[in-house]
Amino acid sequence: MRKIRTGIFGLNPLLDGGFNEHSTTVVIGASGAGKTTFATQFLRRALVEGQEGIFVSLDENKEQIIREAVEMGWSDILDYLDDELLVFIDASGREFSSFIRKELPAFVDDWRGANARIAIDPLTPVMWTTKDPYDQRDLIGFMLKETRKVGTVLATLEEHGPGDLTGAETIIPMYLADSVIHLRYRPLEGPNSRRLKIVKARSTRHSELSHPYHIVKGLGLIVEQGEFRPRGGARIPSQLKVLLEQKKTLPPAVRERVGKALELLTDDDFRGLKPEEVFSYIIGEYEEG
Ligand SMILES: Nc1ncnc2c1ncn2[C@@H]1O[C@H](COP(=O)(O)OP(=O)(O)OP(=O)(O)O)[C@@H](O)[C@H]1O
Ligand SMILES: [Mg+2]
Repeated sequence: MRKIRTGIFGLNPLLDGGFNEHSTTVVIGASGAGKTTFATQFLRRALVEGQEGIFVSLDENKEQIIREAVEMGWSDILDYLDDELLVFIDASGREFSSFIRKELPAFVDDWRGANARIAIDPLTPVMWTTKDPYDQRDLIGFMLKETRKVGTVLATLEEHGPGDLTGAETIIPMYLADSVIHLRYRPLEGPNSRRLKIVKARSTRHSELSHPYHIVKGLGLIVEQGEFRPRGGARIPSQLKVLLEQKKTLPPAVRERVGKALELLTDDDFRGLKPEEVFSYIIGEYEEG
């Protein structure tokens, strides 16, 4: 799977290099967490390389979003608009289900084969078009499936309530997306309360820690690496491999299969498990009893 840089400073190492190309990511956070900033930053990363960015706005109108970006110190966004590298789909105030079922597929047809970045900010109003969870799942699923045909997708989602991802409105999008990033923000605790956590990320190694992040004018989100170490050594996998090779009573197919799997692993994958321990579990599975 090919990786693309996220555009968020400090985030790529936490995702083993970035987002998987043509994947879908949902960024969840309370008001003021930095969702729109994240989405804009993600698109700008493509623009700077001469690739297209598509901003699908369901809430604020185009002018408002541009004004905020300029306010953030990103006035070059106006040039990208002129060059038609940055494209806006302003669906604010529209009837979302017909927009998603009819206009979106027509747009996707036009763009088929492109390798753009698509930001949907925020996905929340789509959830509110119906109370029926089956319909919600259908609509969100359809929207993500369609947009990913055009490129790598990032959708934001508002978080209401205590800010610990327990809100009912986040469950369906969290299931459907390939990756979920939580921007925890508690305004009453002040600006230093911001924490980013990768809740899930399909088909990639990723940090499972909670990372302080900051929003800096002109730069956007900056994520601290903290205790996270990108790729550790491979001492445990190699010791385990030696143990398995010495154990001649193991079926050769098992030795080969596990040996192959170990080649891809590092010490971090074992999270404190000892090689002898893992070895005994594997032996236990195949030993005659
Ligand atoms: N021009 C700016 N200069 C400095 N900080 C800014 C600037 N614009 C935004 N911020 C900071 O970024 C924060 C998040 O803004 P952003 O609009 O991205 O949040 P959001 O999660 O999209 O909020 P909402 O749900 O209300 O749309 C603001 O609360 C503010 O602290
Ligand atoms: Mg916003």
